Amino acid sequence: MIKIGRVTVSLEQREVYVEDRLLQVGSRAFDILELLIRAEGQTVTKDEILRHVWPKSVVEENNIHVQLSAVRKIFGADSQVIRTISGRGYRLTIPVVTHEPVGSCATAPAEQTVAASLNGLPVCHAPLIGRDEAIADITRALKGAPIVTLLGPGGIGKTQLGIAVARSIAAAAGMDVCFITLASVDNAQSVVGTVAAALGVGRADGDIPLQSLVAAIRGRKLLVLLDNCEHVIESAATVCETLVQASADLRILATSREPLRTRDEKFYWVAPLETPEVHASAQEILACSSVRMFLAQMNALNTVVEHDRGSLEMVATICRRLDGVPLALELAAARAAVFGIRKLVSELDDRFQCLTGGRRTAPARQQSLEAALDWSYQLLSVTERVVLQRLGVFAVRFSLEAACAVAACGKLSRNEVTEAIVGLASKCFLMTTFDSKTKEYFLLETAREYALRKLYESDEADEVLARQATCLAPDYEQPYGRVFGVAALGVEPLIEAVAGR
Ligand SMILES: Nc1ncnc2c1ncn2[C@@H]1O[C@H](COP(=O)(O)OP(=O)(O)OP(=O)(O)O)[C@@H](O)[C@H]1O
Ligand SMILES: [Mg+2]
Repeated sequence: MIKIGRVTVSLEQREVYVEDRLLQVGSRAFDILELLIRAEGQTVTKDEILRHVWPKSVVEENNIHVQLSAVRKIFGADSQVIRTISGRGYRLTIPVVTHEPVGSCATAPAEQTVAASLNGLPVCHAPLIGRDEAIADITRALKGAPIVTLLGPGGIGKTQLGIAVARSIAAAAGMDVCFITLASVDNAQSVVGTVAAALGVGRADGDIPLQSLVAAIRGRKLLVLLDNCEHVIESAATVCETLVQASADLRILATSREPLRTRDEKFYWVAPLETPEVHASAQEILACSSVRMFLAQMNALNTVVEHDRGSLEMVATICRRLDGVPLALELAAARAAVFGIRKLVSELDDRFQCLTGGRRTAPARQQSLEAALDWSYQLLSVTERVVLQRLGVFAVRFSLEAACAVAACGKLSRNEVTEAIVGLASKCFLMTTFDSKTKEYFLLETAREYALRKLYESDEADEVLARQATCLAPDYEQPYGRVFGVAALGVEPLIEAVAGR
């Protein structure tokens, strides 16, 4: 282990800790950190960095700045630890101390901890981007609550974040981890069996009493990562509540597109990755986590994106219009690697047609952007589906009043619309504002396009658009016009509308 101020680095494991907390550091940032450490205070030139970190590609110097700012972030307030030597390169300003592992993060060699405790937890080879703060927040939440649920729409990164938190807790607190995915469980009865099999007390298809699970976890300091609960939410909630009431040493980190709604549960809404503002500078664009993720994906596909103003603005538009959702960005990068970013930008209005090239090994619901939404849509009630398609006409934030004015028609009363809005918000289709006295709602752009598709497939599109125009004309005359629809709205106003939220 190597110590630099408050930071501990394992060059063998490629792990970085700050006060016992495992940080997620990108592989390029780690490569630069390693170079600086090995230089023992000598200056590392930019050429050396380019040769070491990007041995096979020609990239611009800007890439160094981006990676270097990630390395500086590791040191937080001590960011002066890395000094820029003008025109030449960088060097560490404080001595590097090599020492034997001490403290809780290193009481056992990291590999031993991994083998002993990360039962079934997938290994992530690529670093998580932009989630350090979330990992710290969720870890903290798990100290105070037995169940923490990571919530968010499909592909926002719940599973990956859960895995990173579990790894970090296992490393820092020596807690056993058990990863259980419910994604392929198709009926409520199989939930107990699936959990039992993962805990080693039965077969997934067996008829296991809940009490056997209780016996299996009692006395164990255990973190269960229960992934993809939304489609079997009630059974998952029953299992979670029963288990945490039986053992004070158990922690459950659940991921779901909807809250479990159990006793003592804390919710953590997984936010999209940061997206650049409309007039952001090149540096600001490159610093955004969604942009870093998109570029990392392009890079992994051996495609270099130029860092000229025009290209960066196109990347910024892609990230913004895909709402900073990692799965969408991954699909977009796969498309752009074949057809280029300019074509991708022109296709964003038709995103469901073009974002279809998911990884062959990804679950079916992550093979395309549409499949990701279909998975959630099929869990909606009939009323929620109707209200969602009607709400698609809102391109900007709207109040409950406005929603009722547009959506309470036909057979739907205001009360039913209100209830459906609560359902849509809790199922992560509708986003709500946190900061206003009066709650307002909005649809992310992809969800809105999906809702509009459903509206146009129905026979009520004309009626709903007419209601929207007549009920709300005074509020919506400026600046976006009265008639909403992807075509009528165009790209730029929508970008501004999203940015202005
Ligand atoms: N912060 C991140 N940095 C890099 N890649 C990410 C990040 N978050 C997610 N991804 C990638 O995006 C894709 C979707 O992530 P993930 O499977 O965690 O989403 P999810 O919210 O669990 O989706 P679902 O609701 O379908 O289960 C994955 O391929 C994952 O590797
Ligand atoms: Mg998931």
